[in-house]
Amino acid sequence: MTVLKKISVINENKSFKYSIFIGNNFIQTLEKNFSKTLKGKKIYVIYDEFFYKLKLHENLIKDFEKVSTKLGSENFFFKIKSKDKFKNFDKLSILLNFILSHKINRDSIIISIGGGVTGDLVGFASSIVLRGVKCIHIPTTLLSQVDSSVGGKTGINTKHGKNLVGTFYQPKGVLIDINFLKTLPERELLAGFAEVIKYSFIYDKKFFSYLEKNIESVKKLKSPYIETIIFQSCQIKAKIVSIDEKEQGIRAILNFGHTFAHAFENLINYDSKKLIHGEAVAIGMACAFKLSTHMNLCSKKEAKRCIELISKFNLPTKLKDIKGIKISSKKLLDKFYLDKKVKNRKITFILSNGIGSALIKNDVDEITLKKFLNELINE
Ligand SMILES: NC(=O)c1ccc[n+]([C@@H]2O[C@H](COP(=O)([O-])OP(=O)(O)OC[C@H]3O[C@@H](n4cnc5c(N)ncnc54)[C@H](O)[C@@H]3O)[C@@H](O)[C@H]2O)c1
Repeated sequence: MTVLKKISVINENKSFKYSIFIGNNFIQTLEKNFSKTLKGKKIYVIYDEFFYKLKLHENLIKDFEKVSTKLGSENFFFKIKSKDKFKNFDKLSILLNFILSHKINRDSIIISIGGGVTGDLVGFASSIVLRGVKCIHIPTTLLSQVDSSVGGKTGINTKHGKNLVGTFYQPKGVLIDINFLKTLPERELLAGFAEVIKYSFIYDKKFFSYLEKNIESVKKLKSPYIETIIFQSCQIKAKIVSIDEKEQGIRAILNFGHTFAHAFENLINYDSKKLIHGEAVAIGMACAFKLSTHMNLCSKKEAKRCIELISKFNLPTKLKDIKGIKISSKKLLDKFYLDKKVKNRKITFILSNGIGSALIKNDVDEITLKKFLNELINE
C-alpha cells in the first residue's frame, strides 16, 4: 500500500493521539499500522450498506478474514443502513444488541467503514458500550473523509433535532482510502466538496485560491489534486480540534453554515431525496455569507466570490433549491432555536469577515434576523 500522506492528531495535554492515513489501500494500512492493536482481538466490522448494494461485501469480508488469520483475531460483521433518517435510537439499539450478543470485551476493536452516518453511529456505540471500546474509522464518502471521521464527534438525531445525543470520542486511527470515491454517486461526491470549501472559507485563503484554480481537476478526482484537498482539509480540522476538542471556543467555526443547514435538514425531516447534509451545508454557507454582508462584516465582493465557488461545484446556494417545501421565516426561526448552541434565546451564527476568516456571533438580535430571513425567502 502506498500511504500518500499521514497527519497526527494530538492535543496539548496529550489526552488523545492518533494518525490519519491517506492512501489507496486501507486493508494494507490496517495490517501494517494496527497489527499490535488488532492481534488476538475480537474485531467488530460495522459496514455501510453500499458494500452490499454494490456486491462488494464479499470482498470486504475476505479482506478482513485475511488480516484476522494472520493476526489470530476474530471478526464479526454487521451491515448499517446509511442515510440520516436511520441515524437514530432504534438503529443504535439494534447495533448495540448485536455487539453485546457477541460478547464484546474491553480489549475488542470496533471498525466503522462507511459514510458519516455509519461513522457517527458506530463512534457513538463505541463510546458507550462497556463505557468505551477502541474504534477505528475507515470513511468511504468524501464528506466523511474530510470531516466526520476526524475530531471525535459522535451522535444520533432525534425528533428534537440533529446530532442532539452524542459524545466526544476520539478514534484510535482514521484510514482514508481514496479508491472508495470511485464508486461514490456524483451527488454524494459534490456534497463532500461543501465541507472541503468550508475549510477554505473559514481558515485558509491560499486553499481557497487553490480550489478556485484547480476546480475542474478536483471535481474529476485527478491526482494529486484530490489527495491534496483531502490532506489540506484533514490538516485544518486536526489543527482546530487539537486546540479545542470539546468546542469551547475556536472549534465552533467548523460549524460555518451549519446553523442554517441543521434547520433545513430538520424542516425536511432528514429526507435525502430533498436534501443531503453537504447540500444543506452549501445553502447554509451561502446564507451565512449573505448574513455576514447584511451585518457589514464581509464585503459583498468577497461573499459573491465565495458563493460562486459553491455554485461551481454544482452545489445549491438558495432556499428555493430545496424542493417540495414551503419555508417561512417563522418556521426557520423555530428550527434555529433547536440548535445545541442556543443560550438565553440567543442563536449562535458563525459568520465571515473575509475569505479565510470566520467569527463566532452570538448576539444577533431577533429583529435583524427576521428582516434578513424575509429577504432570504423572497430572493
Ligand atoms: N461527526 C462529525 O463531526 C460530523 C461532521 C460532518 C457530518 N457529520 C454527519 O455525517 C453524516 C453525513 O455523512 P455522509 O455525507 O457521508 O452520508 P452517508 O453516510 O449517508 O453516506 C451517503 C451515501 O453514500 C453511500 N456510500 C458511502 N460510501 C460509498 C462509496 N464509497 N461508494 C458508494 N456509495 C457510498 C451510503 O450508503 C449512503 O447512501 C450526517 O449524519 C452528518 O450529520 C458528522
